Amino acid sequence: MEYTGKTTLITGASAGIGVAYAEGFAARGSNLILVARRKDRLDEVAKTVSKKYGVSVTVIAQDLAAPGAVAKLEKTVAAKKLTVDVLVNNAGFGVNGFFIEEERSRTQEEIALNIGVLVDLTAAYLPGMVKRNSGAVVNIASTASFQPVPGMAVYGATKAFVRSFTEAVWGELGDSAVRVVAVSPGSTESEFFVVAGGTPGGKPMPATAVVETTFAALDKNVPSVVVGAANSISSSLVKFFPKKSVIKIAGGMFLPKEK
Ligand SMILES: NC(=O)c1ccc[n+]([C@@H]2O[C@H](COP(=O)([O-])OP(=O)(O)OC[C@H]3O[C@@H](n4cnc5c(N)ncnc54)[C@H](OP(=O)(O)O)[C@@H]3O)[C@@H](O)[C@H]2O)c1
Repeated sequence: MEYTGKTTLITGASAGIGVAYAEGFAARGSNLILVARRKDRLDEVAKTVSKKYGVSVTVIAQDLAAPGAVAKLEKTVAAKKLTVDVLVNNAGFGVNGFFIEEERSRTQEEIALNIGVLVDLTAAYLPGMVKRNSGAVVNIASTASFQPVPGMAVYGATKAFVRSFTEAVWGELGDSAVRVVAVSPGSTESEFFVVAGGTPGGKPMPATAVVETTFAALDKNVPSVVVGAANSISSSLVKFFPKKSVIKIAGGMFLPKEK
């Protein structure tokens, strides 16, 4: 894959893994469109990477979970006469706790952002890539996609959707030069658990590991990749264990401890 002079749109680029993607694509010569709600943070990332790598960076501060957000974003991108060559669907969040105690509006927001926005942005920009026979869509799933996660029931299910959807779209691309890949990080250094509540399972990996794994996967044109050797092994072993045990182990890691 060649990224120099291309334009990469990254959602959730104001923190954590998204910032690492901004750095990784800029380092490879790609111009950037950075999207998230916190404009001050996006401006800071834009300033740093444009100075360091000499790429052009467009900041779009927007709440992607709001109704009509994708159409609004598309309009802004089109008005700036930008072509999205690479799309990184990274924005997402989880909520740690019992499903029956989760605020219903928060659950709907989680599904809208993690699934609805990701699918609609893919629908918005993949056809152009296919037409140009060039480009890539990177969808951020999670190791939570490989088994049910009591304590993060909705989150795990959204990530299972993301991985299944992405792998299926990869299967529809045939011999196109366009790449589509689902990236499944395990616990990673970011603000994820500040937002979700609870604590990460295991020692978090640096966000740069997610980015390096992504570039390797894009070069290999695989439909799906897990970040880190230990995560790859545990994700592939899950299907050999009894479902009850798998659910119990996952629940042991993520269910709130006080109940
Ligand atoms: N960290 C982990 O352990 C881990 C593991 C597996 C998968 N993941 C996945 O990795 C992706 C990135 O998460 P992260 O770990 O880097 O978490 P993070 O540090 O909390 O970053 C999340 C990003 O999403 C943006 N975002 C959240 N809600 C948004 C909204 N309504 N509209 C627009 N942007 C929004 C946030 O920006 P604003 O708040 O400025 O809007 C932020 O830039 C997520 O899809 C997450 O599920 C994370």
